[in-house]
Amino acid sequence: MNVPAHPTGGMIRHVTSGPEETEAVARALADELRPGAVIALHGQLGAGKTCFVRGLAEGLRAAGPVTSPTYTLVQEYEGSMPLYHIDLYRIRTASEALGFGLDEYMEGGGVTAIEWAERAGALLPPSTIHVRIEPGATEEERILSLTRGPPC
Ligand SMILES: Nc1ncnc2c1ncn2[C@@H]1O[C@H](COP(=O)(O)OP(=O)(O)OP(=O)(O)O)[C@@H](O)[C@H]1O
Ligand SMILES: [Mg+2]
Repeated sequence: MNVPAHPTGGMIRHVTSGPEETEAVARALADELRPGAVIALHGQLGAGKTCFVRGLAEGLRAAGPVTSPTYTLVQEYEGSMPLYHIDLYRIRTASEALGFGLDEYMEGGGVTAIEWAERAGALLPPSTIHVRIEPGATEEERILSLTRGPPC
């Protein structure tokens, strides 16, 4: 059931039955993105956030294997536009995120995809696309909800 999650946008739900399907949802989303787009990824360890970014990279025709930037915080890929892959797992406060220039990446002319994005708090722009990934009924199933605007 699709329930509007925000007055300016709806919520789109996908149930995926494996990593390839999660990548495919992201690949399709990438086609709609403009420079400056921010994708906030929410979900537990192993939910599939990096998997989703892999699909975004494919959609943006960015070269190189997409791996988790848990230690480096930021990984940049050159595609049809730049993809900034950011992992805030090791960040505790929004001011730490400002410390490494999160705001500057988001204002750059690329797509910024942020794992553990809730740690960025109010730094996320109102136009942020929030992607929530939750476990499904089986080991390989995931429930993806995409919303525009502040998370509810
Ligand atoms: N439907 C699915 N969608 C995405 N990943 C899936 C799915 N089913 C199984 N998986 C597996 O779940 C794991 C997801 O790992 P991934 O690194 O993308 O998670 P993550 O959310 O980035 O975790 P972390 O918080 O540690 O960065 C992979 O091993 C992937 O193969
Ligand atoms: Mg990850």
